[in-house]
Amino acid sequence: MKSIVILTGAGISAESGLGTFRDRDGLWTRYDLAEVATPEGFARNPALVHDFYNARRANAAAAAPNAAHQALARLEAAWPGPFLIVTQNVDDLHERAGCRAVLHMHGQLNGALCARCDARWPAPAVMHPADPCPACGAASTRPDVVWFGEYPYGMERIWSALREADLFAAIGTSGTVYPAAAFAQDAGRAGAHCVELNTEPSAVADDFDEILTGPATRIVPAWVDRLLAGAKG
Ligand code: APR
Repeated sequence: MKSIVILTGAGISAESGLGTFRDRDGLWTRYDLAEVATPEGFARNPALVHDFYNARRANAAAAAPNAAHQALARLEAAWPGPFLIVTQNVDDLHERAGCRAVLHMHGQLNGALCARCDARWPAPAVMHPADPCPACGAASTRPDVVWFGEYPYGMERIWSALREADLFAAIGTSGTVYPAAAFAQDAGRAGAHCVELNTEPSAVADDFDEILTGPATRIVPAWVDRLLAGAKG
């Protein structure tokens, strides 16, 4: 049975009210990513980093999954073959829409990590630099998100899934951050049909066989309906 791998980016959560990074009023137009999304920035000013992620954690908790998240949950539930969502997003909207096969390659806002002993635990709503690690007691707790210069989570599983994929889709991602920006090339080399769903062409649009343009809440449900109709056909 056909195997599907779907990569999602900030654009799938945009209509849930969560900001993207590089659009007109994106997060990286308002914050210096070197200060809030690198290990060096965290070492310099952990309080600023915690404030940044505490605000994003609160926004994500207040947001609701949108029709695009819900359509992917419908697809996962009905798809007879292997199915994996690889998300660059750190929100939990895929899970709250009902998806189960979700791999957060950039970590999750709801996770906490000890910068000293690598212990992981569920993040409280608000984190502070002085919070002691529950395992080693050090005041070195950080959000369990992958920062620039750090290695993404789950890459072996992702590359293995891309080698086996018959269908690869990228939804709401600008194609500007690697290794995710190369996933369409990886899947295409292995013979997958590659579809990009976005409001505008990404930086790697040429790597795709098919481009669907529009807001995710409109084009993702329509794409899922076509897939499921074809799967029955
Ligand atoms: N529907 C579909 N696509 C949308 C929508 C929407 N409503 N709104 C925006 N987009 C698209 C934009 O056209 C853009 O291509 O979503 C993409 C958002 O791009 P980015 O802001 O760069 O977000 P993303 O691709 O997820 O960034 C990748 O960069 O900063 C790091 O770790 C961060 O995971 C993030 C990574």
